[in-house]
Amino acid sequence: MRVPLAEDLAIADEPRTSEGLAADRALLDDIASWMRDERAYSIGAPVNLDIDYRHLAPFLAVHGNNAGSPCGTSEYRLHTKHFERAVVDFFAILAGAPSGAAFGYVTNGGTESNLFGAFVGRERHPDAVLYASSDVHYSVPKIARLLRMELATVPTDRHGAMDPRALESACRANRHRGAVVVATIGSTGRGAVDDLPAVHAALADAGVERTHLHADAAFGGPLAALGPSPRPWGFADGADSIAISGHKMLGCPVPCGIVLARPEHVDNIREQGAAVGADDDTIGGSRDALSPVLLWHELRRLGRQGMVDRVHECLRIAEYAAERLERRGRHPEHPAGTNTVLFDAPSQAMCERWHLFQVDGRAHLVTMPHVTEDHIDRLCAELGDPPTDG
Ligand SMILES: Cc1ncc(COP(=O)(O)O)c(C=O)c1O
Repeated sequence: MRVPLAEDLAIADEPRTSEGLAADRALLDDIASWMRDERAYSIGAPVNLDIDYRHLAPFLAVHGNNAGSPCGTSEYRLHTKHFERAVVDFFAILAGAPSGAAFGYVTNGGTESNLFGAFVGRERHPDAVLYASSDVHYSVPKIARLLRMELATVPTDRHGAMDPRALESACRANRHRGAVVVATIGSTGRGAVDDLPAVHAALADAGVERTHLHADAAFGGPLAALGPSPRPWGFADGADSIAISGHKMLGCPVPCGIVLARPEHVDNIREQGAAVGADDDTIGGSRDALSPVLLWHELRRLGRQGMVDRVHECLRIAEYAAERLERRGRHPEHPAGTNTVLFDAPSQAMCERWHLFQVDGRAHLVTMPHVTEDHIDRLCAELGDPPTDG
């Protein structure tokens, strides 16, 4: 497909003619089908492309707005907060919230979820240092800047998980200050999981008394919760707030996420009645009312068991990929319990065709729900007999 040039897309002073509108419609149709066709090659990005919500198109003909708190209602009556709360409840139970209840809302993605978690932590402990591993998602250093928090970067072990002993020594120097720790549950590059109980123990051993533990489970939360060997990631494991992605394992045409927090900690940030008749206890003012409906629809369709099956299938395909890439002599590295496989990078053109990102100079494949054995077989066929790229 020819990528449209800036001049093809320029917006003029005059309204578009009917022929112009027909041409634009054809252009948009082409782009949409190209984007959908790319599912056959998209094996590097941690997003689920196996989605189809077109039957929910009526929601595209109305402005929904979940302004303000997800709890209660709003003076703007065209909202979907009841669906949002059902989505939050599902994840609160999955994350082991005490009595199954947590504060939570649908965000515009993992970054906002991390921002909310760190904000709640900073409001609890205004003098806190923000600790995160060197493999933390790039949103976290930015959040430290936004919140004007001192960031202490903690080295990782050879698997890419935070080294708890290094965390302890970093905390020891600041033990009279609060500590907001971002533990990554599934690092973006390697799927590495920081050990929440070990993080807790490190904080206690360092003598830090005021802590807030935020689990960035945007990528790895569903794997940690629903995989065959569950990993600590939730409230029962000491998390005070948790980020989960909506467009990764679940799937959504627009980026979105979920954030959860212990309700008593959110009381600190709440402005009563400030947002269109609702309390203000979210980052955004006007908030997306579409994603909660889509996420609810998908979760309702799948049920918890459907999510378990989805996660297990992703892990199976990752094992399949590692085994096939081994046969091709590509030295795959497949960390246990993850859907991430790193392997010797092919040519730049092939990486582009297959949407393969690079991690430490290696190609990064991630078996999201739309990735099948067929994707892996076609990739391996190309690897075995590389096309003359260009
Ligand atoms: C571990 C982790 N945290 C946070 C994010 C940020 O999510 P978003 O891009 O939705 O803001 C990502 C995205 O890849 C991620 O992998």
